Amino acid sequence: MIALGADHGGFELKEAIKKHLDERKIEYIDCGTYSEESVDYAPIALKTCQKVTSGECEKAILCCGTGIGISMAANKVKGIRAACCSNYFGAKYTRLHNDANALCLGGRVIGIGLALELVDVFLDTEFEGGRHQRRIDQIAEIENM
Ligand code: RB5
Repeated sequence: MIALGADHGGFELKEAIKKHLDERKIEYIDCGTYSEESVDYAPIALKTCQKVTSGECEKAILCCGTGIGISMAANKVKGIRAACCSNYFGAKYTRLHNDANALCLGGRVIGIGLALELVDVFLDTEFEGGRHQRRIDQIAEIENM
């Protein structure tokens, strides 16, 4: 189960991602927003990320205009490792090395075709573990300071 969230700047991209996940028969929960009307991204980031930290969803995909504001908010949620990606290598390695559990995309930055490629590689790539686990543990330690 994937948690999806977007503000108005990422709404159109979120809708395209929903269609793509439907085609791939991947289930999701749409945490909003549900129109192009202007809305703040931080509460949507929180609501969407809480689906992951509660265990209801495996990962989150978040969209705003740049992907940046929503990623900043997501990374404030304890247990979330959110990566704002606009290239394939980053979306792949943030799974392999960072075990990212939230992908953030900029609806005003990248086209839908590339965004869906990033979604696919993000969802289909497993964490490598090993030395990378130690580094992730160090990130978690910062959360507790
Ligand atoms: C909304 O206009 C825009 O600021 C937002 O979608 C995002 O880009 C913030 O980082």
